[in-house]
Amino acid sequence: MGLKQKTADLKKRMREAIKGGGTKAIEKQKSIGKKTARERIISILDPKSFYEYDLFVEHAGKDFDMDKKYLPGDGVVTGTGTINGYPVCIYAQDFTVAGGSLGWMHAKKITKIMDHAMKLKVPLIGINDSGGARIQEGVNALAGYGEIFFRNTMASGVIPQISVILGPCAGGAVYSPALTDFVFVVDKVSKMFITGPEVIKTVLGEEISMEELGGARVHSETSGNAHFFAESEEACFDQIKQLMSFIPWNNEKKAEPFPKKAPKTRQYNIESIIPSDPRLPYDVREVIRAICDDSEFLEIQELFAPNIVIGFARVAGQSVGCIANQPMCMAGVLDVDSSDKAARFVRYCDSFNIPMLTLVDLPGYLPGIDQEHAGVIRHGAKLLYAYSEATVPKITVILRKAYGGGYIAMCSHHLRADFVFAWPTAEIAVMGPEGAANIIFRNEIKNAENPEEMRKHKIKEYKTKFANPYVAAAYGYIDAVIEPHDTRQFVMHALEISSVKSETRPAKKHGVPPF
Ligand code: HXC
Repeated sequence: MGLKQKTADLKKRMREAIKGGGTKAIEKQKSIGKKTARERIISILDPKSFYEYDLFVEHAGKDFDMDKKYLPGDGVVTGTGTINGYPVCIYAQDFTVAGGSLGWMHAKKITKIMDHAMKLKVPLIGINDSGGARIQEGVNALAGYGEIFFRNTMASGVIPQISVILGPCAGGAVYSPALTDFVFVVDKVSKMFITGPEVIKTVLGEEISMEELGGARVHSETSGNAHFFAESEEACFDQIKQLMSFIPWNNEKKAEPFPKKAPKTRQYNIESIIPSDPRLPYDVREVIRAICDDSEFLEIQELFAPNIVIGFARVAGQSVGCIANQPMCMAGVLDVDSSDKAARFVRYCDSFNIPMLTLVDLPGYLPGIDQEHAGVIRHGAKLLYAYSEATVPKITVILRKAYGGGYIAMCSHHLRADFVFAWPTAEIAVMGPEGAANIIFRNEIKNAENPEEMRKHKIKEYKTKFANPYVAAAYGYIDAVIEPHDTRQFVMHALEISSVKSETRPAKKHGVPPF
């Protein structure tokens, strides 16, 4: 065969390979709002930037007549490309080929592209649409997952790892995403579970639909396994592109700077966001938008533990990780889920050289039997650990309440914040005035002629003494008490001055965080 014939032969082979599971399976995929594996990759990457590898890999299954089956590309598409000009390694499981199930060669294709990502130190994006371990391949399928999980763990904190769940993902297909940094889900399309409804029915006799068990909403609102929720695959891909603009390629780089733009939200009128009555709630995201460039804020885990807000923004063009108590939800209290959510994000920012801006307004950790029994001690400690361990620039602004453990946990100087600013409305105390007065003046209130009058008097006395930022400022725990409208300026300066910060912690193999 000459070059012409060989080229024609190559084209024929390629046509066969990219057919995936065939017309019928592709039609089924499309009928439920799903794109094919290659369409998904092309939609995420910059136009014409995708290069595919290992197209001709074949599966290695021998049992149960598998040796007679042709599974194009062994059910997974892998390659490299760019997003906003950023290099990325990418793979997408093809549900039309044996349900995207993971056999040994399928796993080898994934681990090969993971190894590339680590060697090149570029982000890895995995699009998961898979029935889990390929049952016919037995222990080889499990071995494949083990190899992926190990690599996910080694890559953690070195390169960004993004998982996109675009189908019914079961078993091993959900543990790899769980080990990665960000999990994206799409309403009605994404399903994640370890064991599906069938197994649950057989083993426990309980009946539940796939959507109720592990749909996109469940994982975004209840389990907290998902970080970004979208209504459609297209909206999900836009979210991925936006996220990529905030994070660096790897842990040795910083995120790309953007031109500095003043915030637009409410013409940066911070005073109009905060109610004059300290007991009234407000949306802390408005404060974030008022401080950050062009009011830009990409919220993460928006639907889970909304009593704390986390996400990326830019200040003077630089990426910043924002962590803020949300007074609009449970008064911004810290509980099991919000501690977990914030602690993980703090670790992410620290791993990838992203400075942190913490906004504080909380009455402390949530009291209650439920919380104590759910392990609020252990989960709450995660936040203390994460902030203490973090060495990136850490800027804290206390807006209103900073009570008790909440004051310490929300990146106080004691956990090595670089700068702590407080508004004149800040109240820094062991607990709220009402609770404190009831405890320390219990006898005086009980023995008073008019206990109610005495209680009011003592609350006022306590408020005058402690419900302000000046006691903490007198001890140097606050660097500056600032007017709210100066916040952006103070934060910009603090970030600029700490941009070359270099801080170390004691050398060790690793710590033992309260996982
Ligand atoms: C082999 C599989 C498969 C699997 C699906 N298929 N899952 N083949 N191994 N794990 C095949 C089906 O046989 C079918 O082939 C095709 O993929 C499409 O599957 P359907 O069932 O028709 O699709 P759907 O109705 O949409 O249901 C999708 C599903 C269901 C919910 C994912 O297929 C399912 O429950 N699969 C098993 C899930 C599971 O229990 N996995 C756990 C594996 S254990 P044909 O030829 O008919 O088109 C595991 C352990 C790892 O992963 C542990 C790590 C810690």
